Amino acid sequence: MAREDASTLENLDTLRKKIFSDLESATDSAALESFRIKYLGKKGALRALLKGLKNIPAERRKEYGARANQLRAETEQAFSSRTRQKKARGDQQSSPFDPSLPGYPFPHGSIHPLTKIRNEIRDIFISMGFDVAYGPDVESDFYNFAALNFPPHHPARDMQDTFLVSPEVVLRTHTSPVQIRIMEEQQPPIRCIMPGRVYRHEEISSRSYCIFHQVEGLYVDRDVSFADLKGTLLWFARRFFDEKTHIKIRPSFFPFTEPSVEIDIECFLCKGAGCSVCKQSGWLEILGAGMVHPNVLASGGIDSEHYTGFAFGMGIERIALLKYTIDDIRLFFENDIRFLRQF
Ligand code: PHE
Repeated sequence: MAREDASTLENLDTLRKKIFSDLESATDSAALESFRIKYLGKKGALRALLKGLKNIPAERRKEYGARANQLRAETEQAFSSRTRQKKARGDQQSSPFDPSLPGYPFPHGSIHPLTKIRNEIRDIFISMGFDVAYGPDVESDFYNFAALNFPPHHPARDMQDTFLVSPEVVLRTHTSPVQIRIMEEQQPPIRCIMPGRVYRHEEISSRSYCIFHQVEGLYVDRDVSFADLKGTLLWFARRFFDEKTHIKIRPSFFPFTEPSVEIDIECFLCKGAGCSVCKQSGWLEILGAGMVHPNVLASGGIDSEHYTGFAFGMGIERIALLKYTIDDIRLFFENDIRFLRQF
């Protein structure tokens, strides 16, 4: 008899474990309902247990009965708290807002590479005390050419194939006309850069496009010398490309500067050794510059007896092509996001 009692108490423990593992895995309301029927219902296992009490030998009945009652109470309590939990979670799920879900990826734009380069150039010149100014894209022949010392019919006008709006009005072929506009408005000292879009009627290819961007620079004051031009542009090149970069100054021609030069930087890819980007020369041309021609100062209303100045102009696309080693200028204008995303 004693052995049977012991095994009956053990059965109670086994049943207890089973009840709690069943309850644990009952996650929806159907499962909870079958749990209730199985254990707590009229024909459920716990009722049956208590009904069976009469078969337990009298001396063990008290302890067994107490434990069976306790198990039923525990089960009822656990069941109702599980049901409450489930209901709370269900309410949450039926709400359209679930704060635990990960958010939608939000596509964000990026700065266009030309804007990035322009901003970098601008910030370097601002740090040297330059202001920033802008002029119109549609210009008169006067600002684009005549005031810049291009006489009418002068062959230098052919250096830049011009889009004409009317015989006297053009899409500016360079940002140099803004030099005149600044000088008209302001007496020296003038330290200014002038970024902007320019237009040339050129054959479109991987190297040239009908629209591109320049940053013009102008410094006019007493005693501005060629050494200032050289020092300013060397400092710029070292800040922008590489702090050890060298520059090379070559004579050139522009009607609005005298002397005129073009400035090359040491190729930053091969460090001057020669590679495919610099066409084995070790040098890359980055800008045109020169001392402002006295006729140009006069067009701007500045007395060339007292003041001198230097000016420069650089192509943003050209610098971006070099800096990012891109081989086709058209990519800047197609706005293919596979290209733009890389910057
Ligand atoms: N405007 C010239 C060009 O477009 C560049 C330049 C600007 C040269 C200022 C000298 C001084 O090629």
